[in-house]
Amino acid sequence: MTNIGKDIALAAELIKQGKLVAIPTETVYGLGADAFNPVAVARIFEEKKRPSFDPLIVHIADIAMLDKLFEHPISDKVYSLAKAFMPGALTIVHRKNASVPDIVTSGLSSVAVRMPSHPMAREVIRLSGTSVAAPSANLFGHLSPTKASHVAKQGMHVDYILDGGDADFGIESTVVSVHHDSVTLLRPGAISIEELREVVPEIKTISEVNETEMESPGLLKSHYSPRKPLFILTGEEKMLPQNAGLIAVSPNSIDLKTSQMLYLSDKGDLLQLASNLFSALHTMEENELVSEIYVQAVPETGIGVAIMDRLRKAAFQYL
Ligand code: TXA
Ligand code: MG
Repeated sequence: MTNIGKDIALAAELIKQGKLVAIPTETVYGLGADAFNPVAVARIFEEKKRPSFDPLIVHIADIAMLDKLFEHPISDKVYSLAKAFMPGALTIVHRKNASVPDIVTSGLSSVAVRMPSHPMAREVIRLSGTSVAAPSANLFGHLSPTKASHVAKQGMHVDYILDGGDADFGIESTVVSVHHDSVTLLRPGAISIEELREVVPEIKTISEVNETEMESPGLLKSHYSPRKPLFILTGEEKMLPQNAGLIAVSPNSIDLKTSQMLYLSDKGDLLQLASNLFSALHTMEENELVSEIYVQAVPETGIGVAIMDRLRKAAFQYL
C-alpha cells in the first residue's frame, strides 16, 4: 500500500532523496521526481510504463527557475506567456538548457516547463530545492488522476502520494511550443486557445504547421483511455445497451436513460464539466455493472476543445 498523506515537508524530502512522489496540481495529479536526477526520472518511466520517446514536463515554483531549464537567450515570447499564465495551466516548450538531463526530454532539444498554481505543488517544489519532472500520475495511455485515490489505484510503486484534494480543472495543461518567436499550440488543455490569443494573437495550431517540423509525442491518437470501451454519443441514439454507463452533460441535456448514469454538471458549464470528466470516467471504469461507457459530446468552445480532444483519444480504438 502506498502511503497517502498531506505532509508537504516529507514529500519534498523524498524528492530530494531521489524518490517518486505523486503531487497534486490544479490540472491533474503528477508523478514527480527530481528533474536533475536521471536515475529518479528513469523510475517515472518504469513505473508509468511510459515509452522512453515521450518526454516529461518539468515543474517549477517561480519564474526565476526558467533560467536553469531553457537555453539562453530565452525568447521574449516565453516571458510574455509566463507573465500571463504562470502560475497556471500552461506548459511552455522551448530550447533546453544543456544541464537538463536527456532522459527528461527523451533526447529532444527542447524541454516542457510548467509552474502549477496549486499551493501544495508550489510548496513541495520550493522545499525540494529543485525542479520536478512529472507526467500525469497514471499508467501510460490510461485516464489521468484527479484525486489521490485515482493515483493509488494504478498500482504503481510510488514512495508517497501527497493528497491535495480534487484537482480544480481536472484536465491537463495546455502545451505550447515557442520556437524562435513562433508559438504553436501542441495540446489543447485547461487554458483555452481564446485566452492564449489575447496574449499571442498569431499563435498557430498544430494543423497549420508541417507535422515533420513539429514533433509532439503526446499527440498520440489513442490515449487517456478507461479500461472499458468508450463511445461518444452522436445524438441519434434511441436507446443504449443494458450494460451501458452513461455520462451526460447535465440532467436536462439528454433524453436517454440507463440505470448507471452520471452528470458532469448542473447546467452545462464547461469548466464544471471538465473538472468532473476524468473522475466520472474513473467511476464508470470501477463500476461492475458497466461494461461500455457512453459519453455525451460537448460544445467545442473554450475548454470544450480539450474535453473533446480527450474523449476522442479515449474512444479512438473503438471508432
Ligand atoms: O497538466 C499537466 O500538464 C499534467 C500535470 C501533472 O502537470 N502533466 C501532464 O503530463 O499531463 P503528461 O506527461 O501526461 O503530458 C505531457 C505532454 C505530453 O503530451 C508530451 O509529449 C508533451 O507534454 N511534451 C513534453 N515535453 C515535450 C517537448 N520537449 N516537446 C514536445 N512535447 C513535449
Ligand atoms: Mg498524461
